[in-house]
Amino acid sequence: MSQPQTARQATPRHYLMCRPTHFDVNYAINPWMDPGKPVDTDLAIEQWEALRRLYLEHGHTVDLVEPVEGLPDMVFAANGATVVDDRVLIAKFRHPERAAEAPAYQKWYTEQGYPEIFSAEYVNEAEGDYIVVGRTVLAGTGFRTDPRAHAEAEQALGVPVVSLTLVDPRYYHLDVALAALSDTEVMYYPGAFAEESLAVLRELYPDAILVDEADAEVFGLNAVSDGLHVFLPETATGLAAQLRAHGFEPIGVDLSELLKAGGSVKCTTQEIRHLAAS
Ligand code: ARG
Repeated sequence: MSQPQTARQATPRHYLMCRPTHFDVNYAINPWMDPGKPVDTDLAIEQWEALRRLYLEHGHTVDLVEPVEGLPDMVFAANGATVVDDRVLIAKFRHPERAAEAPAYQKWYTEQGYPEIFSAEYVNEAEGDYIVVGRTVLAGTGFRTDPRAHAEAEQALGVPVVSLTLVDPRYYHLDVALAALSDTEVMYYPGAFAEESLAVLRELYPDAILVDEADAEVFGLNAVSDGLHVFLPETATGLAAQLRAHGFEPIGVDLSELLKAGGSVKCTTQEIRHLAAS
């Protein structure tokens, strides 16, 4: 097994999260959601609080956006906006059930005084489908984000966008099929992608960590990396071992309640990427 040449280092991150105060599953917009199954909102809050504490303990900043009643999926903050170099591209949701989340994020960024806030013409579910890897955005399409949104993202964010097509409805967002581990490294589940997108991934990331179905279906790829620590569902044990072999420190998290809505660690975590001081 190959060992990394240099020791990995964590860099402090700025995250935006939303407490699952109004979390519930009362509609189904992905194959994981079953409105007939009971949801324990208090447990969801407890598990989410534990993740937030973990981020703080690891030196990260966590800002909070106010949860809105009647928006049970708003805990999935990754879907609210994509931020690169302090430029904010607000989401536009595919389903009417989530549409009102976009203005809530728009309001938050406006109040914080971000000067460049773009509202979207085409459907894009933000970091659900846009994974920032260094200075590149990998952009998913197939289920949620409109392929025409990819050019719009490139214009708004000012970095190149690479389109990838998802083919398995269980992996309806890119962030459940692929994760950024560092500015140059990714991990992904090949079964989620169209053949031509796999060719693109192999070309760009020949050394990517390939994740098997057992780890992908417990949302192992819905992970957040700070360059060293990788926060991921604790049930993705095979993937944790792969990450360790590559010099990362996997940190297992239990978000079992949020899983009932088809989301886990990365879905709850929007990253605010600032313009590097020069
Ligand atoms: N129930 C939500 C939906 O289907 C889950 C969103 C998960 N978020 C994510 N970034 N994958 O839209």
